[in-house]
Amino acid sequence: MIYMNILVTGGAGYIGSHTVVELIESGHNVTIVDDLSNSSEIAVDRIGQITGVKPSLFAFDLQDTSRLDEVFASNSFDAVIHFAGLKAVGESVVKPLLYYKTNIDSTLSLLEVMAKHNVRKLVFSSSATVYGSAPIPYSESSPIGQGITNPYGQTKYMIEQILRDTGTADSQLEFSLLRYFNPVGAHPSGLIGEDPRGVPNNLMPFVAQVASGKRKELSIFGNDYNTPDGTCIRDYIHVVDLAKGHVAALQNLNPGVNEYNLGSGRGTSVLELVGTFSSVTGQEIPYSFAERRPGDLPEFYADPKKAKIDLSWKTELSIDDMCRDTWRWQSSNPNGYVDNSMS
Ligand code: NAD
Ligand code: WQD
Repeated sequence: MIYMNILVTGGAGYIGSHTVVELIESGHNVTIVDDLSNSSEIAVDRIGQITGVKPSLFAFDLQDTSRLDEVFASNSFDAVIHFAGLKAVGESVVKPLLYYKTNIDSTLSLLEVMAKHNVRKLVFSSSATVYGSAPIPYSESSPIGQGITNPYGQTKYMIEQILRDTGTADSQLEFSLLRYFNPVGAHPSGLIGEDPRGVPNNLMPFVAQVASGKRKELSIFGNDYNTPDGTCIRDYIHVVDLAKGHVAALQNLNPGVNEYNLGSGRGTSVLELVGTFSSVTGQEIPYSFAERRPGDLPEFYADPKKAKIDLSWKTELSIDDMCRDTWRWQSSNPNGYVDNSMS
């Protein structure tokens, strides 16, 4: 086992914080760069509580290349995991330039500084959204880039292409592009989890807020899809499994650019997820059916074979685990990461 010194961009965020925990628990040393635009420093304190090691946090925008250069100059990084970026699909439709600029400039800034300091290993947060309208299940050899319905998804597709071109130009680079399916759940400690600002865009945090009484009812977007119960089907993945997928990717980097699906290979409908949440937590989830949400695909899930073969990684946790851990986080932190020291 080789312990590495790792920079995690966006490490205070939802998936980043869970990955930092797994990295520290695997013996790696972690430094975080995160501008806290969609996260809280309290998450970093909580990482310290869980692992006994509080990682260093540098709070600035990754687009600030000179500050990033200083961080690289004062640390000798072996690898980078790049989570930082904006991720709200609906907001990206309203503010496309903000999304293209932030997500792409941040990545270019990072690649420039990595090249200057000879850091060759990178794991990148991509998304199943790059498959757009490809046939299901999505495998890494499925076509990408067709039928992406929003600027957020386009940024993931474009950044993937930037990384493939960069890898083609320098055969010493070792890049892994991880295409996440639908990350949900929280750390079993209940100390870290997803803390959306404002009204949650995604299903699981909305369900959790209905369960806690913060929202009155869930609107289920569409019950007339061509699926067994009429609601959309997704491949939900527990965030702890996803975090472990990053450790596996990091430890199995090879020269070249490789893409991996991180999903379970199983589809779950909206109604099934809501039903499981209710039965596992004992909380009632009032819901009603609403119009379809523009841009939603009826059904997609992963072909997860490549990650299993190359990374010796597969999902271990069930939909029950995802619901139970989401509820533990939500019920013990009903207002997310609130700084009680001020009150
Ligand atoms: P998140 O918003 O919780 O985490 C992203 C972090 O990056 C935040 O802490 C934010 O403050 C930080 N950040 C944003 N822009 C920055 C910038 N310019 N400079 C420095 N820090 C910046 O989101 P997440 O759910 O943890 O997602 C992490 C990554 O995974 C993102 O790239 C996202 O697009 C990708 N992804 C997420 C999902 C999902 O459903 N959550 C699915 C597929 C891919
Ligand atoms: C799941 C299902 C909704 C909310 C998004 C991004 C994707 C990726 C993951 C980053 C859908 C339904 C939702 C609600 C509902 N992110 N729903 N009521 O859309 O599969 O994926 O997050 O890369 O790019 O698009 O996830 O959780 O928003 O929706 O009925 O209040 O739940 O219609 O069928 P989605 P989601």
